[in-house]
Amino acid sequence: MLGPSLDTLPEETMTDLNPQARQMADESMVRNLAAQARAIWPQEVELIRRYALPPAIRILDAGCGTGEAASRLAELFPRSQVLGVDIIDPHLELARARYARLAPRLSFKHQSIYELEAPDGTFDLTVCRHVMHSIPYPDRVLGELVRVTRRGGRLHLIPEDYGMLHFQRGALDPRDFWHEAPPRFGEATGTDLFIGRNVYGILAGLGLADISVDYVVVDTLRVPRETFAAILQAWRDGYVESIGQLTRFTSQQAEAYFDQMIANIRDPRGYAVWMVPVVSARLP
Ligand SMILES: C[S@@+](CC[C@H](N)C(=O)[O-])C[C@H]1O[C@@H](n2cnc3c(N)ncnc32)[C@H](O)[C@@H]1O
Repeated sequence: MLGPSLDTLPEETMTDLNPQARQMADESMVRNLAAQARAIWPQEVELIRRYALPPAIRILDAGCGTGEAASRLAELFPRSQVLGVDIIDPHLELARARYARLAPRLSFKHQSIYELEAPDGTFDLTVCRHVMHSIPYPDRVLGELVRVTRRGGRLHLIPEDYGMLHFQRGALDPRDFWHEAPPRFGEATGTDLFIGRNVYGILAGLGLADISVDYVVVDTLRVPRETFAAILQAWRDGYVESIGQLTRFTSQQAEAYFDQMIANIRDPRGYAVWMVPVVSARLP
């Protein structure tokens, strides 16, 4: 579905650091990004409206994946110029094909977010969603995002935090899984799967102003159960193999936890919640 096989992905370089490149390029991630956008955007767009930005702005979507947010931003700001950058070419090709109607106002380029081509102070709004938890040295990337944003411009980030997912107990207790698997996975990949709570301090250290932390609540009351379940299904399909390699859980055990969480979401009397941090800041 994605074109080139995963085995043909180029070797990672120092500026293309993407330890989850295999999972990011997988068919399950394409499904996941679509489901996440369906779940999150309706609440997220209200937070973006609060920035009261004019319609003709320059927007960067750093680590844009398949263009789910970049396309929605281009539609939300009808006179904007939106650039999405990523290092997975099949994602960029899919984004260009899907959103050709918005070109050339919306464009997609192969660039690493560690080393963006834009000059200092280029963008009015710099967006980075669902990326920070999956890369090493997130502080370096945040510094680069700050560099390309103009004075008075905005950062808008979704830094995931795997301590903010809550499911009901069944035969298994999902708290055991979420307590143990993300720290081990992060240690093994040099990433911080709890970056959601750590971004505030990094932004404060970079001297940013008006830092806010809000939450999109992906739960079984606000989001259709099947949309929420689709996110967990995609995580299961994309990650159980590496969870089996990198943590004390076997792939089969990880799958059993995911299957139970999916059943929890689908149970008409079940309740589950994923708190998704949305962090924003202004360049002074
Ligand atoms: C989970 S996806 C999120 C995609 C998109 N932001 C969204 O919200 O739908 C993370 C993306 O970050 C990209 N990424 C990881 N490391 C990167 C790097 N060094 N430069 C550019 N993109 C990167 C991955 O290739 C992947 O497409």
